[in-house]
Amino acid sequence: MVQTSDLSDADAASLLAWQVAAGADEAILDEPVDRTRPQPSISGPAIPAPPPATPRGVAEAPPAFAGAAAPLPPRPAIRPAASPPRPVPASTPLVAQDAKALAASCKTIAELEQAVRVYDGCGLKKTATNTVFADGNPGAKLMFVGEAPGADEDRQGKPFVGLSGKLLDRMLQAIGYDRTSAYITNILFWRPPGNRQPTPQEIQQCLPFVVRHIELVRPDVLVLLGGTSAKTILNQTEGILRLRGRWFEYRTDESLPVIPAIPTLHPAYLLRSPGQKREAWRDFLSLKLRLSDAG
Ligand code: URA
Repeated sequence: MVQTSDLSDADAASLLAWQVAAGADEAILDEPVDRTRPQPSISGPAIPAPPPATPRGVAEAPPAFAGAAAPLPPRPAIRPAASPPRPVPASTPLVAQDAKALAASCKTIAELEQAVRVYDGCGLKKTATNTVFADGNPGAKLMFVGEAPGADEDRQGKPFVGLSGKLLDRMLQAIGYDRTSAYITNILFWRPPGNRQPTPQEIQQCLPFVVRHIELVRPDVLVLLGGTSAKTILNQTEGILRLRGRWFEYRTDESLPVIPAIPTLHPAYLLRSPGQKREAWRDFLSLKLRLSDAG
């Protein structure tokens, strides 16, 4: 059998090009697996399938929402990882501490972006193509926090530029906003391989920067897109279907003013479950009212 190590650079490059042409254009695992070597047999208890994807968002939809893209097919089932999850390195709390200190030292959004770009405490950075920091107007009174970049965002280095971003743009437009009057970021700054669910460790590694980001933007209203964002920012355990549409008071520090925050359904979830758009539309109407109250 030909070992990949026997190939010339040119042959390896054409093999890679062939794989990309066949659609294998992303790494699914954190580490490459050398399938030319015998694999250890996996014994012991079956690895449980990961929990169903967290909903990432109008039956009787108003016209603006009804123009949504055709529903996406259901997410393909995620196969159990070939190797058991790696234990969390003992240095994680330290990294989280470092992230806190680093984030706290940033006095501007530009400094914070630079800090995120140099931060090496989140392993996702190694497999991502780009750091995805934010898009839109940092001076806007409306700020969205999503979950994590997907493939399109990873390629372009901007949040919500794929199909769910297009739906988010239409939802914004329906209440008279766009990316010049809103600011958008995510809980994670790097794409989880294969769009898997972020782990609690990855969330904790990025969270200090997200909290500081909200402090520096100081929006009048915060919108949390999907369960990961809502539960993380609001420190809640209930699911997004229970949290959505309720107003919370978000405050990172006693000395800072409270920011009204509303969780709503994630646009990617709405693309898969268009029947739920009615609920998202209700949330957006409530948001519009709150924004007009905020002046
Ligand atoms: N989903 C997210 O949560 N964020 C993005 O940037 C894109 C898709």
